[in-house]
Amino acid sequence: MPVQRRIFGRPIPAMSPRRMAVLLGTIAIFAVLTLVFTLPSSIPAGPSLGKFTDHKISLPKLKHIPSPSILNPFRQAAHAPPVQKNSTNGESSWYSNWNWLSPFSSSVTLDENRSLLPPLPDRPPIYTYYDHTIEKEQELKDAENAVLLTWRKAWWAQGFKPIILSPAEAMNNPLYTELQMKQLEAPMMTEMSKWLAWENMGTGMLCHYLTLPMGSNEDPLLTFLRHGEYPMLTRFDNLGSGLFAGSKADITAAVKKALANPELKAAKDFISAVPPETFEIDPKHDALAYYNDETVADKYPKIAGDIVGNGAKGLLVLNQLMISHLHGTWQNIFNRGIAVVKPHPDHMSYAVHPARRLAEFLAQCPESPMPSSCPPNRPKCKPCVASTPLKISTPPAYRNTSDLYTIGTVPHPYTMAVLTAFRDDISIPWIRRESPRDPWVTALTKELLGTGVSGAPRVIKFKEAVASQYGTAHSLWITAEGDMPDDLDWHFGFAIPRNATDNGRSETPVPGPERRPPVEHDFKDGPVPTEAELEKEKALLKRAKEFGEARTADEEKIRGAIEAWNLADTEAWKFARAFLARSSVERKKWEEEEKKYAGGAGAERGKSEGWGRWFDD
Ligand SMILES: *[C@@H]1O[C@H](CO)[C@@H](O)[C@H](O)[C@H]1NC(C)=O
Ligand SMILES: *[C@@H]1O[C@H](CO)[C@@H](O)[C@H](O)[C@H]1NC(C)=O
Ligand SMILES: *[C@@H]1O[C@H](CO)[C@@H](O)[C@H](O)[C@H]1NC(C)=O
Ligand SMILES: *[C@@H]1O[C@H](CO)[C@@H](O)[C@H](O)[C@H]1NC(C)=O
Repeated sequence: MPVQRRIFGRPIPAMSPRRMAVLLGTIAIFAVLTLVFTLPSSIPAGPSLGKFTDHKISLPKLKHIPSPSILNPFRQAAHAPPVQKNSTNGESSWYSNWNWLSPFSSSVTLDENRSLLPPLPDRPPIYTYYDHTIEKEQELKDAENAVLLTWRKAWWAQGFKPIILSPAEAMNNPLYTELQMKQLEAPMMTEMSKWLAWENMGTGMLCHYLTLPMGSNEDPLLTFLRHGEYPMLTRFDNLGSGLFAGSKADITAAVKKALANPELKAAKDFISAVPPETFEIDPKHDALAYYNDETVADKYPKIAGDIVGNGAKGLLVLNQLMISHLHGTWQNIFNRGIAVVKPHPDHMSYAVHPARRLAEFLAQCPESPMPSSCPPNRPKCKPCVASTPLKISTPPAYRNTSDLYTIGTVPHPYTMAVLTAFRDDISIPWIRRESPRDPWVTALTKELLGTGVSGAPRVIKFKEAVASQYGTAHSLWITAEGDMPDDLDWHFGFAIPRNATDNGRSETPVPGPERRPPVEHDFKDGPVPTEAELEKEKALLKRAKEFGEARTADEEKIRGAIEAWNLADTEAWKFARAFLARSSVERKKWEEEEKKYAGGAGAERGKSEGWGRWFDD
């Protein structure tokens, strides 16, 4: 009797050696085939890969790219990087890391919904002192608030963290009791309190709120100040108390010197209360504009009477002058105009309409009490003339020109597909057989990279254009489906005038060229859509927006297919969305922190108007 073999106590049927050999052979062949067909190299990299993908993306040979695919069966199991604080907003989430220039975020974040962004640059603090406790009329307080708001916007846009100090910070300083015993007159007491408040905060800059940064983002002084390290206590020639920069130890030493000065009572400001060698004096400060009374009387004699000694009204006039100078400086820096990029321009007019509107606002001349004047630090500026406004162009590709500002509108691949196909019945076979791959990012980077380059290096270029320090200062990228961010003023650093045309509403969304005022730049450099085409574009974009929100099983399938087919376009869209969301979170968080202090001075009062109504229709 043959031996009865058992597995887990159960008998297994007897098998002849011949049949056993056949079975083993089958298993062996199956194993080899499985191995061959699932080798990692046969699986393309990137997110959302499913049954729809039948291609391979060639990744550039970058050392820091780890395992190329989250679907790679031989990849070691890894924890996704930890979720960072405040790293979501609505649908977007992100992870900030140094290796942000990888083509596909999900290879690092291990989550197709989490974008990889560059680390947020540190914003060095810039302090100003404002005593909100002094009794004054409400009107004056409101005017001062408007000026403080202008100050905060301007410095925020240049990469600093503007902070308003109040007597609370001065009193927090242990040296304050010593100061009180000196029994100084009010102006000198304020001056010393300002320094004590600064000393209490430590390394950074102390700025008068009438000192504004007015120069390009790459200005050497602004770049130096942004580093946040100040080897000496520095003040600026001819700028008086406009701006100081220093480290905590140097500030402390200076304050102690002032307090030890027996003549302190007779001094009229802090600079004269300390020995001159306390400060290093920097003679070069082309990017700083200081609007104190002397400057105003000297440079703007025509309106000086309206400003100096005219209380709240005067401050408001000054505020308008400063805003017009900030805006004018921006226009001078980007004197080649504004490029509203429009890859595949045939049916994109409606999709880039908000960007165009914004460009029109930026291109118009700001209202000013003295329209032909220049900022005090830029006597050779070119004042804005209404008859020759800044040029607005709509090139089909991104151009990296330093004096051209770019406003980009990034469409989701689905939006791109319905608009280029000009119909909304997109199906999976159509996607696979007829639609080109990554049409948007390919067209966008055509001038930079030429043709014949795969999606990955194009996405890297795109990410650089969006999120590098240089890129953020020279461009703004929004998504075609999302709303315009409502904090654009903070991005540009001045209050953007919002009525380019007589008002935001009376005009139809994008009227045909015949109904527009004959502007030189209108649609000249691209196809001109007819009224009917515009109506259809509008309907298609609406459909695309709804598609983005709806999540039925069928639509999920199409979404999956189109995202997998257009890996680079999808990555670009998610990246732009996350980058915008993060800067909004950064600002809101800071706003949240700051409103507790200094009685909330310098905040946007009331419900800020928002941008919606200027771009909707
Ligand atoms: C990504 O987001 C979509 C929609 O919000 C969701 O359906 C999907 O499950 C998410 N994927 C992951 C990996 O979280
Ligand atoms: C654009 O040009 C600047 C300076 O010329 C350069 O630093 C930057 O990397 C360029 N950006 C892109 C996206 O090519
Ligand atoms: C913008 O509107 C304000 C009032 O709403 C008006 O005073 C101003 O002249 C307008 N500016 C332009 C450039 O149309
Ligand atoms: C940031 O996160 C904290 C808690 O982690 C939350 O209270 C706060 O509201 C968040 N801020 C923003 C702007 O999302």
